This record gives sequence, structure tokens and C-alpha cells, in this order.
Amino acid sequence: MKFKLKRQEIDQKLVDFGVKKIKQNRVHVPRATSKTLKGLAESLEEIQKNGLPKHLVLKKLKKKLGHGIFLHPNAKPILKGEVIAPYSGEVALFPQNGEDNSDYVFSLVSDLLLTKQEQLSWDPGRRYHPRRLYSIDLDAHKKGNFTRFINHSAKPNVEAHFLRIPANSLGLSPSPFELLYIAKKTIRPGEQLLLCYEGEDKSYWGVLNIKPFPMTPKTFRLISPRGQSSFRSTSTMETI
Ligand SMILES: C[S@@+](CC[C@H](N)C(=O)[O-])C[C@H]1O[C@@H](n2cnc3c(N)ncnc32)[C@H](O)[C@@H]1O
Repeated sequence: MKFKLKRQEIDQKLVDFGVKKIKQNRVHVPRATSKTLKGLAESLEEIQKNGLPKHLVLKKLKKKLGHGIFLHPNAKPILKGEVIAPYSGEVALFPQNGEDNSDYVFSLVSDLLLTKQEQLSWDPGRRYHPRRLYSIDLDAHKKGNFTRFINHSAKPNVEAHFLRIPANSLGLSPSPFELLYIAKKTIRPGEQLLLCYEGEDKSYWGVLNIKPFPMTPKTFRLISPRGQSSFRSTSTMETI
């Protein structure tokens, strides 16, 4: 798998700016617990070694759904609260609701108003507008890891947590904000990992002008005849 970026890519100037805006906007970023840090360290080790962790399977689904991620039929269940992996990609500041948005963008901090000086510094190509809103976006279009293949469901078994990674003894570099995918409920062998993309602002599907296919974790399932994994419907395995 070519998508092996372990954690978000962000430059220090944007980290500092993000911290300032998070404080100004009184956004609460909870601290990752020690259990979460341990899970994070384990997931990063797997991504480093294999790209796709051994207990997961990448499958091509029907029609326009593209690929999806499944728990291997012979794997142990993933329990509620276990870390799947960080959603990794390139972090940048964009005018909100702009057209640069890709299918793989997560808005980390949105509705940011910038001073004239800040707009000149971060967005020099555009004329200053005092009411233009910006967001700090995480984009896995070009760089990311397997989490970029996790599809959408209104009944998800995975949720995204916006957390602070504190100083730790596990060798993880601290980060004032990071997005981690964590199991929302028990994920059983063969089930698809699914996340609800839509926040309260309904900004994902509305912008793309697509009606999402109504999937649950059990809609497509990997089954394991005689110890080998196979798919319930005809599908091809592709290398990404
Ligand atoms: C983050 S990607 C997920 C991985 C994607 N399937 C792929 O192969 O790259 C998001 C895109 O996957 C597709 N997708 C994910 N969940 C879907 C759903 N429930 N219905 C329709 N399309 C979906 C849409 O094209 C969406 O913009």
C-alpha cells in the first residue's frame, strides 16, 4: 500500500497558529488518555511495518463506492474505545467552503476569522475581507494512511476524536491537536469499518451533491471459508 503516512503533516508555524485560534475560539481539545496513547503507538508501528495493519483488509466495493476497510474474518473483535489509527494527511489553512476541498478532507478547526495581518500572511493571493471564514483542514488526498479508505455510514462503528497528544514515554511526538479514529462500538470480524462524515453543518455530502449509499457495518461482509478470507459479493482485490 502506498498510503503509509503515520501521522498528520503540519509545519510548526501552522501548529502555533492553530493553538492560538483554538484558544481564541475556546475550542476544548481533550488530552489523550494513557490507553489511547498506547493504542496510538501500536497502530503507528503496524502502519510503519505493513501500511495496512494485518488484522484489516482493503476491499474494492461495488460501483462508485470505491474501496473500504474491513476487519479480517479471523481477527479478534475491535473493542469500543480501541484506537484504529490517526487520520493522517497534509494540514493547511483554507478559506472555508472553497473549491479546493477533496473527498478526503477533514476540517479540524473551522469558522476562523483572521485579522488583516493574518490574512495577508496566510492568504496573500486574495483581497482582504474581514468576514471571510477559514478552516484548518487535514487532507488525505495525496498523502495519508489506510484510514482514508474508511467509508461513510449514518450508523458508524468508528468515530473521530480531536485530541491533544501530551508528552509521553512511548516515543510519540506530542501534538496540541490531532485526529484519531477510535472504535465507537465493538467491531466484529468481517464487518466494514465505517464513520459518519457528516457533522451538524451537513457540509460533506451536501457540497459533493451525492446521496450516500446507506451502509451499515454488516451490509458487506468478509467471510472466511476454510480459514481464508473471501468477500460476500464478487469483488477484485486491488493494490493501492
Ligand atoms: C474518504 S473516501 C473513502 C474511501 C473511498 N471509498 C476510496 O476508495 O477512496 C470518501 C469517498 O468515498 C465514497 N463513499 C464513502 N462512503 C460512501 C457512501 N456511504 N456512499 C457513497 N459513497 C461513499 C465517496 O466517493 C466519498 O467521497
